[in-house]
Amino acid sequence: MSKEYKRTLITTALPYTNGPVHIGHLAGVYVPADIYARYLRLCGRPVTLIGGSDEHGVPITLKARQEGVTPQDIVDRYHKLIKESFEGLGISFDIYSRTTSPIHHDTASEFFRHLYDKGEFIEKSSMQLYDPEAGQFLADRYVTGECPHCHNPKAYGDQCEACGTSLNVTDLINPKSAITGATPELRETRHWFLPLDKWEPALRHWILDGHKEWRTNVYGQCKSWLDMGLQPRAVSRDLSWGVPVPVEGAEGKVLYVWFDAPIGYISNTKELYPDSWEKWWKDPETRIINFIGKDNIVFHCIVFPAMLMAYGDGFQLPDNVPANEFLNLESDKISTSRNWAVWLHEYLADFPGKQDVLRYVLTANAPEAKDNDFTWRDFQARNNNELVAILGNFVNRALVLTHKYFDGIVPAAKPGPVEEALQAEIVTIKAQVSEAIETFHFREALNRAMDMARAGNRYLQETEPWKMAKTDMERTATVLNTAVQLCANLAIVFEPFLPFMSAHLVKMLGGDKISWDMIGCMDLVPTGARIQQPELLFEKIDDEAIDAQMKRLERIKEENKLKNWQPEPRQADVDFDTFMKADLRVGTVLECAKVPKADKLLRFLIDDGGLTPGGRTIVSGIAQHYADPAELVGKQVVFIANLPPRKLKGIVSDGMILSALNADGSLCVIAPSAPATPGAQVK
Ligand code: MF3
Ligand code: ZN
Repeated sequence: MSKEYKRTLITTALPYTNGPVHIGHLAGVYVPADIYARYLRLCGRPVTLIGGSDEHGVPITLKARQEGVTPQDIVDRYHKLIKESFEGLGISFDIYSRTTSPIHHDTASEFFRHLYDKGEFIEKSSMQLYDPEAGQFLADRYVTGECPHCHNPKAYGDQCEACGTSLNVTDLINPKSAITGATPELRETRHWFLPLDKWEPALRHWILDGHKEWRTNVYGQCKSWLDMGLQPRAVSRDLSWGVPVPVEGAEGKVLYVWFDAPIGYISNTKELYPDSWEKWWKDPETRIINFIGKDNIVFHCIVFPAMLMAYGDGFQLPDNVPANEFLNLESDKISTSRNWAVWLHEYLADFPGKQDVLRYVLTANAPEAKDNDFTWRDFQARNNNELVAILGNFVNRALVLTHKYFDGIVPAAKPGPVEEALQAEIVTIKAQVSEAIETFHFREALNRAMDMARAGNRYLQETEPWKMAKTDMERTATVLNTAVQLCANLAIVFEPFLPFMSAHLVKMLGGDKISWDMIGCMDLVPTGARIQQPELLFEKIDDEAIDAQMKRLERIKEENKLKNWQPEPRQADVDFDTFMKADLRVGTVLECAKVPKADKLLRFLIDDGGLTPGGRTIVSGIAQHYADPAELVGKQVVFIANLPPRKLKGIVSDGMILSALNADGSLCVIAPSAPATPGAQVK
C-alpha cells in the first residue's frame, strides 16, 4: 500500500437473486473479502464490508414467468436464502441489503437524473424486436428461434446453448417471443447511452498508468478493452422490472441492471450509515476495494468508474479490484441453470458445524491466478490431512497434555533458546501472513498461517513432553506453557480464515478479546490460568459423507442428460425404391444368451415363421442393456431379414434386430403392438 488510508470500504459483487449462492461465488468473492475485512478489523483499522442482493435483470423475470409467480416473489425467496446462508458461513457483512429497497431505488434514480441533467448521456433510437401480442419490447433472452449455425430450434436471442455461438437477436431464424410465442416485429425505441469513449483517456490514465499493481488478469482485461476502443453503452432497457428511468416520456423503461447494481454499493452504505456514508465514498482518505469474479471486471473497472467520474462530486474510484478466476466443480463449469454446483445452504445443512472446512478448502484452492477445481475428494483430504492432522492435532496434544500433567492450569515457563527461536518464527510468520493478505494473496496467507501449526507439531515432536514429564517437570512446564501460548497465537492468526475454530479455541483457552498485534506474544494465556477440558476442533470426514455428495452429482448429471436430450437431426433422404428393398419381419425370440468373451453381444435364436429351418440366429450388440437376457425369451422383435449374413465372434449373424436408444441411455427392442405371426412382413 503506497499510502496510509483512514478507512477501507470493501464491497462484494451483489449476487443475482435468481438462485442460491454456490462455492464458485464463495471462492471468487465472499470468502476472500471476508478474510480481508476480518484481518483489517483484527488490526484495529476502520473497515466496512458491504454486501447485498442484485434483484433486477432479465433472468429473474424469466424465472418468475417459468414459475408463474412475480419477480418480487423470486427475489424475496432468494434474498432471504442467500442472506441467511452467508450468515451461516460467517461472512461478516456490516450490511447485507437489496436493490429492491426504497433507498436503492431513490439513490439509483437520483444518480441517473444527475447525469441526465448534466448532459452526460446520449439519446439514441434503434430498432429492437417487439412482441405485438404482449405489447412490449423483447430482451434478447426473451426471444428464441432456430440457430443459424447448428439449426438448434431452441436458441436464445443472445446465445445458442447447443453449439455455444453467441448470437445477435436478429440472426435467429423464425424468431418467437418467449412470452406469447408471437412472431416479433422490429420497432423503433429510444435509449440513453453513457459515452464511455469520453472517459477513455481518464480511464487509461487511472488504470494503465496508476494501477500497475492490480492483478495481471484484471489489468490485462482492462488494457484490452481500452485498446479496442470504448463505445457508448446503453444504460436503459425496455422492461417493467427494475428502477424506472426518471425522465418524462420514459414509461416502460428501466435502468439497465448493470447501471443500477453497482450503485447498490452506495445505497447500502447509505442505509448502514445514513449520516456519515459520504466519507466512505467521497473522502480521498477512504480506500475502496471491490471483490468480484472475472466476469464482472469490465463493469467494475470501466463502466462504474466512468459513471462515478461523470457524476463527480468527489466520488472516489476503487483502489483495487481483486477479481478471481472461476472455480470448477469436479472438472465441470459450475452452472446455476444446470444445477451443477455445491449450494451453500445445502452444504450448511449437510455439514453442520463444518463452516470452517469449506472456508479452508475454498481458500487453499482459491482460483486467484487461474481457474481451479473443487473436488469432494480434495475437500475430504484437506480436512483429514491438514485441518485434523496438523492444526487440530497440535492444539489437541497441547491442551490434553496440559490437563494430564498440570490439571489444566497453565504452568510457569522458563523460556530457553528453543522457545526463543519458536517465538521468532511466529513473528516471521505473522509478517508473512500480513504481507500476503494485504496484497490479496489469500492462499499464500493461509499456507503461511498453517506453518505456525506445523511449527507447533515440530516443537512437540522435538521436545517430547510426554517423555520429559518422567524426568524433568520444570522443563515440561516450559514446553506446555509455550505450546498453550502457541495455541493462542493460532487462534488469532487463523481468525480471518477460520473464525469458528478461532472462537472455539479462544473460549477453551479462557480468553476473550484478540487482536492482530498480539501475535508473537508468549504470555497471552497467563500462568495459573485454567484452560477448559479440550474438545476436538476438527473431526475426520468419512467416505460415506463424501460418497453421498458424489452420488448427488451423478444424479444431477443424469437429470441434465435427460433435460438436454435432443433427437438426432433428420437424416439425408433415402430414395423410396432403395428403402422398399429392406425386408422387415416380425419374429419370436426362442433363445437369448450372452456371447462368451464379448461384453456387448447377445445371441438370439428367432422363430421367423419357417424362413430359416430350425430358427434364425442374430447377434446383436445390446448386451449392456439387458442384465438378464432370458427376459427376452418369448418376446417378439422386428428385424431386417435380407442383410448379407456376417460373422461376429465366430457366430454367423443373419439379420439385424431393431431397437430404440432412449434419452436416459436405456434401450428397448421394437415389438409389434399386438401379437403378430412370426415371419409376418412389416410394411
Ligand atoms: N449480479 C452480478 C453477478 O452476479 C454482480 C453485480 S455486482 C454489482 O454477476 F456491482 F453490480 F453490484
Ligand atoms: Zn447453434
